[in-house]
Amino acid sequence: MTETVTITDNRTGKSVEIPIKDGGVDAKAFSKLLPGIWFFDPGFTATASTSSAITDLDGTNGILRYRGYPIEQLAEQSNFLEVCYLLLFGELPNADQLENWVHDITYHTFIHENMRKRFMEGFHHDAHPMGMLVSAIAALSTFYPEAKDIHDPESRYKQINRLISKVPTLAAMAYRASVGQPFVYPDNNLNYSENFLSMMWKVAEPSYEPNPVLAKALDTLLILHADHEQNCSTTTMRVVGSSHADPYSAAAAATSALYGPRHGGANEQVIHMLNDIGTYKNIEPFIESVKAGEGRLMGFGHRVYKAYDPRAAIVKKQADAVFDVTGRSPLLDIALKLEEIALNDEYFKSRNLYPNVDFYTGLIYQAMNIPMDMFTVMFTIGRMPGWLSHWQEMLEQEQRIARPRQLYIGPGERQYVPVENR
Ligand code: CMC
Repeated sequence: MTETVTITDNRTGKSVEIPIKDGGVDAKAFSKLLPGIWFFDPGFTATASTSSAITDLDGTNGILRYRGYPIEQLAEQSNFLEVCYLLLFGELPNADQLENWVHDITYHTFIHENMRKRFMEGFHHDAHPMGMLVSAIAALSTFYPEAKDIHDPESRYKQINRLISKVPTLAAMAYRASVGQPFVYPDNNLNYSENFLSMMWKVAEPSYEPNPVLAKALDTLLILHADHEQNCSTTTMRVVGSSHADPYSAAAAATSALYGPRHGGANEQVIHMLNDIGTYKNIEPFIESVKAGEGRLMGFGHRVYKAYDPRAAIVKKQADAVFDVTGRSPLLDIALKLEEIALNDEYFKSRNLYPNVDFYTGLIYQAMNIPMDMFTVMFTIGRMPGWLSHWQEMLEQEQRIARPRQLYIGPGERQYVPVENR
């Protein structure tokens, strides 16, 4: 039996029967019946903006898969660069493909000296690293003008490679600038996550030896953040990309979208919240204030997950391994208690509010000594392959430029009045 829906325009009595395909109905078929009538959906809560073969997210059942592989298996058995390859090219690489891919990424981590000397050093000493990163990613397009050639697959591969390899370098550079320390050049003998830790923390030692547990934890967090289908920043990447802007400009826009506290900025807000709560006795009053609408329980709730975010469960496990190395954060006990109370409270239960990925990631970053204003920067490094996979997919789909409609609710025509008469 073909599954369909029928829409009737009660003004004319005309109907249209539309097949349900891949869980959606084609808006063009509605539009034929209803010319000039738009679907009102602010926040796109009921709109599929594209079809995609990258990430499968079932929010009701707490399932997340990249190209069909469960996130739990990838977090446990894969590594970030392999996951990048999977997201971008659709399949896990064989041994040769993986070796070439890792080599290509490792040997593109350096950035043009002008970027450091003229650009990054030009920021004010207390510039937020996210502001610096957004600008630096956009500025990369000026170094690679061939990036505009978005229809050439070879050029696309180069820019994708550069963005994944150079973003950790820019991120670490933004951090070092913000604390007034000299920039550390990438070390090609280290893997992706180790190299980032080296660029963050190396001082005067000839080579930096990262703690393997912390490097593994970081790699896992990057995997968990690598893609999450049509979230706010990925949608931004696709929307900007649909105008055929170069990928650096599109990625800078996506990074800006991630910056907001409702999106990638939430992990920073979680730590502020836990610090504000401070002690056990303040937990209950805090929960009551949230229920009274005086604020939100940061790191809780998600537009798509109406069950426990599977990434949060993995992060929670990862936290134990990290705290074994770094010592336990006193804020962890407050977080655990908050979670326990919220999971048993009718307000949160009835609204399907569960911990999301950001509830515990901030605690891990903090234990690793990564400052709070770098948390969203960490998220950016992780999400870059997801943005690029969607950008590439969007181009291959030859998607039309993103251009939604609006329902105009402003005044009708009025006559201009000169300023002296107003
Ligand atoms: N604390 C308390 N109440 C909440 C929360 C929360 N964290 N999140 C949602 N609600 C309530 C909200 O007040 C509303 O209640 P009511 O129906 O009585 O008005 C109901 O739940 C539905 O909320 P909503 O704002 O309509 O949900 P949304 O899908 O538009 O927002 C969200 C999703 C993630 C922006 C929201 O849950 C939120 O602000 N959470 C805190 C910020 C956060 O942790 N963000 C990270 C998201 S995961 C990482 C990422 O993908 O970037």
